[in-house]
Amino acid sequence: MARKPFTSSTREIPEVAGVPRHVAIIMDGNGRWARKRFMPRVAGHGRGVESVRAVIRACIAKGVSHLTLFAFSSENWRRPADEVSFLMQLFMRSLQKEIDRLHENGIRFRVIGDLSRFEPALVDMIRRAEALMADNDRLTLTIAANYGGRWDILQAVERMLTKHPERRSGFTEEDLNAELSLNYGPEPDLFIRTGGEQRISNFLLWQLAYSELYFTDTLWPDFDEKALDLAIASYQSRERRFGRTSEQLRESDKPSAQPAANSDAADHA
Ligand code: IPE
Ligand code: IPE
Ligand code: MG
Repeated sequence: MARKPFTSSTREIPEVAGVPRHVAIIMDGNGRWARKRFMPRVAGHGRGVESVRAVIRACIAKGVSHLTLFAFSSENWRRPADEVSFLMQLFMRSLQKEIDRLHENGIRFRVIGDLSRFEPALVDMIRRAEALMADNDRLTLTIAANYGGRWDILQAVERMLTKHPERRSGFTEEDLNAELSLNYGPEPDLFIRTGGEQRISNFLLWQLAYSELYFTDTLWPDFDEKALDLAIASYQSRERRFGRTSEQLRESDKPSAQPAANSDAADHA
């Protein structure tokens, strides 16, 4: 069945759900977690996989429909070669180990990013996992690997131009949205960054336009369901105005008011 395109938060006011539909996380602080324990940095990456498991479970339990995790940025190649190679091995081992369980849990699995620099065996495993879980609809789990927000926008522009070779102007946000690597999901409602830094680090630059941003000092290996609850509670305390005033929001909450302009936002399962 064809899926409807998702609302662009800058073109239409999206429906706001109590539980964020899409949570996007920069999983930061693994190295510092390990160093605090006098362990090698990579021990923190290993431990971080436990947090990934806990957060997936918690998202399913809470009814979050999309979870996007930043696992490796296009800038992370600048790290020492042995750390990069450890991360690649860890990704491969974890995927191999978890693939059946992910599938049994009804998870739709996707990887976004420029995979051309990855070992063919890893790319192969990713593609097979994606194909296996393509029709699942419980939680869409996206791993951003060798991902960069600028890369994403550039590749989308290129694809958009290739699709419409005759057109010189008049492109819309929807035209670009359709070519972005996350074109199968809504924009993140809630962005979380662990590890204390307050920056986006070239994550989903286009898609975070109207996301609620949440920064915590908790290091990723310490991040668990309780920590996610705190982030969601913070999200729930925000007023998502999308350019409007508080008064307008209160007005639109009244029972006699017209329903929100967009009612197809939840129609994606
Ligand atoms: C995040 O943890 C994991 C990746 C970037 C792969 P870091 O490795 O960046 O941990 P810190 O920031 O050095 O503590
Ligand atoms: C961002 O973390 C990327 C991932 C979590 C995968 P970094 O730790 O690499 O970010 P910067 O470079 O400190 O901003
Ligand atoms: Mg870091």
